[in-house]
Amino acid sequence: EPTADQESYNKYKDLISTLPTQRWGPGGDDLHQYHGFWFHRSLLEEIMAAQDHFVARPTDIILATFPKSGTTWLKALTFATINRKRTDVAGPNNPLSMLSKLNPHECVPFITSLYHNGRLPDLDSLPVPRLFAEHAPFSLLPESVPGSGSRIVYLCRNPKDNLVSLWHHSLARARARGVAQYHSFDEVFELFCSGISMVGPIWEHALGYWRESLRRPERVMFMKYEQLKGDTGGCLKRLAEFIGCPFSEEEEREGKVEEIVGMCSFERLSELEVNKTGRMSFGSTEIENKEYFRKGEVGDWNRHLTAEMAERLDRIIEEKLKGSGLEF
Ligand code: A3P
Repeated sequence: EPTADQESYNKYKDLISTLPTQRWGPGGDDLHQYHGFWFHRSLLEEIMAAQDHFVARPTDIILATFPKSGTTWLKALTFATINRKRTDVAGPNNPLSMLSKLNPHECVPFITSLYHNGRLPDLDSLPVPRLFAEHAPFSLLPESVPGSGSRIVYLCRNPKDNLVSLWHHSLARARARGVAQYHSFDEVFELFCSGISMVGPIWEHALGYWRESLRRPERVMFMKYEQLKGDTGGCLKRLAEFIGCPFSEEEEREGKVEEIVGMCSFERLSELEVNKTGRMSFGSTEIENKEYFRKGEVGDWNRHLTAEMAERLDRIIEEKLKGSGLEF
């Protein structure tokens, strides 16, 4: 596989070394502030490489999410929906069989991961529509994405639950690397309230996609984890329609929507062998697949945040979103 020219990579590294830096989380990783958002070094290098090299197509579908807002679930639902009629590929390579054997992250790649460590992927041979995921803020997507007419599905989550999920995930990553705990939950809460977490501030991340979904509703669909939990079937039907493969009346009568909802449910995915015992690496850290299936509930923040903390974060979010029409 060809790799990106070293010169570009040195340019990214030089630029990143000049950025404001903040140690963050139980693992004490460095986050770097770039165009108003915070990133791990490797993700930022990948975002820069994707900006330089990724060429979007009008048929592309991009699942954009704030980390820990339900990315894994959205990947599974969309992958199953797009591929539900793929009877042309039999056996283990049939996409729906893949979903029983692989973690959803192995079925739908992050655009950024494709550019990890200087790789220059060949994306021309991927089946159409190409399905990708992204954690980058809207303003830092590769330039060709907004102009290409690709469809973007954005998913976010109540910031309190999002923070709790992020905390647990970061603890697991820190444990996997065997590092001594650097920040406590209270410290991470403080940083989160100041907008400091991976691809934070969470409100700016959501607002970027929210505004674009108002400007171009036929190209950007905005969803919340809570809506998806509350009416998975209804959301899935809207999603299918949005990405151009709506369920027919006949499919609905046959229970195809419920079938996919069941196939991608927390209960089913978390019970798959690959998600009980498998591992995956993102960047330099290998983590157990089961970490992507912790509880899958709405309102777990109750067990981690005091009433004062919850109220404070709510007030900050309310203030930041004021006038936008977006609420959590
Ligand atoms: P919790 O930590 O609150 O349990 P991401 O996929 O963006 O990393 O987000 C992970 C969160 O989504 C975790 O939340 C995880 O349990 C939840 N999740 C994963 N699969 C899910 C599913 N099929 N249905 C509902 N929630 C799911």
